[in-house]
Amino acid sequence: MGGVRLGIIGDPVAHSLSPKMHQAAMRQLGISGEYLLLPTPATELARRLEEVRAGFNGVNVTVPHKRAVMPLLDEVEDRARAIGAVNTIVNRGGVLLGYNTDAPGFYRALESAGFLTGEALVLGAGGAARAIVYELVSRGWLVGVANRTFARAEQLAAELGAWAVAPDKISKAVSKTPLLINATSAGLGDPDQAPLPEGALPADGAVVDIVYGPRRTKLLRQAAAAGLATMDGLEMLLQQGALAFELWSGGPAPLAAMRRALEEG
Ligand code: ATR
Repeated sequence: MGGVRLGIIGDPVAHSLSPKMHQAAMRQLGISGEYLLLPTPATELARRLEEVRAGFNGVNVTVPHKRAVMPLLDEVEDRARAIGAVNTIVNRGGVLLGYNTDAPGFYRALESAGFLTGEALVLGAGGAARAIVYELVSRGWLVGVANRTFARAEQLAAELGAWAVAPDKISKAVSKTPLLINATSAGLGDPDQAPLPEGALPADGAVVDIVYGPRRTKLLRQAAAAGLATMDGLEMLLQQGALAFELWSGGPAPLAAMRRALEEG
């Protein structure tokens, strides 16, 4: 019995926590199968997708292929098309379908933390910010976007129906927001780096960081020290994985087992 074949396409993928999370899910449900690291340079992407079509039930897609993979698929759901990124592929009998579970996974993470405030300030204007802004705006939220490079914030906000925060208004917007979301890469791999100057925090709002390495980023440590509720990036990683698993398996994901696998690192 060969079992289910899943994996993750990216470059690099060696650091990915997805194999642990999905292997734990399969183990918990008694599903036999494997989740493989599929390191794939850009020049090999098309060939890799043919391999997926021939022998995998589904795969995740990560940096730098989330956009490049789209024209190579047979169908792409509306959300992934609007965001411009696919992170989950389902193989339905040789037909490759593309989805984005990062965006709804982020929303589920907010829901699990009780942070459905309807209004948020998103820091960043890259791919991660784009997925988050799209999801929140499509659910009727009022979303401000602040970014180191203002022109990128302006462009993202105009395209997705958010508002761009002018550089001289950022500290006031931060202090007033009920939910501050760091969607920049500031703090990634560096516990002393933060996306905002020291002391810039909501007066009375929650703070979310999508960075999960380290989990306790400088931004979250400062927020917690100021008495604010926080959520780190592991919950988003978990929830995007759970949604991907649900697309592949057609049933509910075993969240507790997946969370445990992530927390063990
Ligand atoms: P991703 O797809 O992961 O979002 P990206 O497209 O490279 O990655 O975007 C990275 C984001 O983090 C950008 O918004 C970037 O700001 P710029 O647009 O000004 O480059 C932001 N960023 C990265 N390092 C930062 C830092 N040290 N302080 C503030 N913002 C930072």
